[in-house]
Amino acid sequence: MLERTLDKPLYQQLADALSNDIRSGIYPVGHKVPSVRKMSGLRGVSISTVSQAYGWLEDQGWLLARPQSGYYVRSSHAGMDQVNVIRMPVSSPEAIPSAVTKSELISDVLDQLNHPGRINLGATIPHASLMPQRQLQQHIQKVSRYQLSEVLAYQFSPGHIGLRQQLAIRMRDASVFCDADDIVISHGCVDALTLCLRASTHPGDLIAVESPCYYGFLQLAELLGLKVLEIPTDPATGVSLEALELALSQWPIKLLLLTARFSNPHGAVMPVARQKQLVAMARRYDIDLLEDDIYGELSHLTQSASHKHGSGQVTAITGLDGACTALKAWDTDGRVMYCSSFSKTLSAGLRIGWCIPGRHFDGVVRQQIFTTFSACSLSQETIHSYLQQGHYDRHLRKLRQTISSNRVRFQNALQQFFPPQTLISQPLGGYCLWIQLPDGVSSGLLFHLAREQSISIVPGSLFSNSERFEQYLRLNIARPWDDTVIQALETLGRLVTQLMQKV
Ligand SMILES: Cc1ncc(COP(=O)(O)O)c(C=O)c1O
Repeated sequence: MLERTLDKPLYQQLADALSNDIRSGIYPVGHKVPSVRKMSGLRGVSISTVSQAYGWLEDQGWLLARPQSGYYVRSSHAGMDQVNVIRMPVSSPEAIPSAVTKSELISDVLDQLNHPGRINLGATIPHASLMPQRQLQQHIQKVSRYQLSEVLAYQFSPGHIGLRQQLAIRMRDASVFCDADDIVISHGCVDALTLCLRASTHPGDLIAVESPCYYGFLQLAELLGLKVLEIPTDPATGVSLEALELALSQWPIKLLLLTARFSNPHGAVMPVARQKQLVAMARRYDIDLLEDDIYGELSHLTQSASHKHGSGQVTAITGLDGACTALKAWDTDGRVMYCSSFSKTLSAGLRIGWCIPGRHFDGVVRQQIFTTFSACSLSQETIHSYLQQGHYDRHLRKLRQTISSNRVRFQNALQQFFPPQTLISQPLGGYCLWIQLPDGVSSGLLFHLAREQSISIVPGSLFSNSERFEQYLRLNIARPWDDTVIQALETLGRLVTQLMQKV
């Protein structure tokens, strides 16, 4: 029981006790803590004392409040006084648009995937064993057998109607209420992004991106002849709206390309209040928002987003936290273009993605008809058949559990093997861990040394056009946790220590 003392208020004693329980793993990350009422009974304190303690823990980053659901453990290392766990600094890119380079390094990173003996801790490609391969095989066989004519024919843009209907229903999990007719099926997520960018920009235009951002964004911009302005980004809450507003007041930005939920590489989630602010800002400055939500279904929180029902136009729902709400949920005039795919959750090789292009719908369809024509019919039929059977949510639940326990295991191993000056991100979802190496250690050098040991990582410099993230690296946690990973992390830790000693 807690006791009243003069030197520490009751709520603080309770908060301290709970943060100790979280740190020692009694309440693991992603799990729900007892309700305010239950905790009040357990600890013999008033409901308002518990509310105050939970509020304090939320402010400090230990807990995450999910409306109508309760409080969940957000971090097992919160508080600013921890030695080796993130609070990483907000990035500070130079405020000048730049041309893009780095494609050779990207080819180098991707080339490593072609070497079977190499352990992939780099590219965020989920390990085959985490995907429902046998089930997909059965559906490929089924549709090839019973729907051969459809499989061998075009599925004209905007794509398979049954699949679009299923996607429209699934989008409600992200609080996006759209119709099948608002959706275009694409050849993966990058194709969806390309179609949207082509429909909404012209070569020479300036777009803004998060910094750091998925290197594919920078490459795509280069291929489309777009200039890029990198906007500072907070590792926990995403792109800085203050910096964006300043940039919007100075530069003729056409659109912002971002990942609001579980960004790559930060794993950041933009809180609902900021999501709404961002959409309002886009309206004020009349820019488009291009949202890549490819990791949206890969929350590390144990409960999936609640199913909300509705129909017709995209409708705004209040009161959901950012992990459950796509930016598109707040779109009222079609300026948010939403893109995603099944590459991270089912199969990258089937190449099925989709977009909800809002006011650029006609432009996207036109682009598709005159470039790729349509997405692959066999893949569309297969995923439609798979989703229809209703096993996808069960698969996602299992996948989320694996990833979320992997994240804790990776973090613990990194703390054990890497020098104590290393900072590790606290993503709430997705497949990435973003790591800040000790001062002076170059992840570019580490990349080459690791490659000699058959370990693939992605150096931080790929995530920006500048060299600002040379000290960072990204790890892929979407693979089985086994001795090979442990040994690889131990080897990486040893290499980092050696590099640090040379500084
Ligand atoms: C943020 C992001 N968008 C898009 C992609 C690629 O998606 P797809 O394979 O569906 O084109 C990736 C892959 O790593 C990614 O991380």
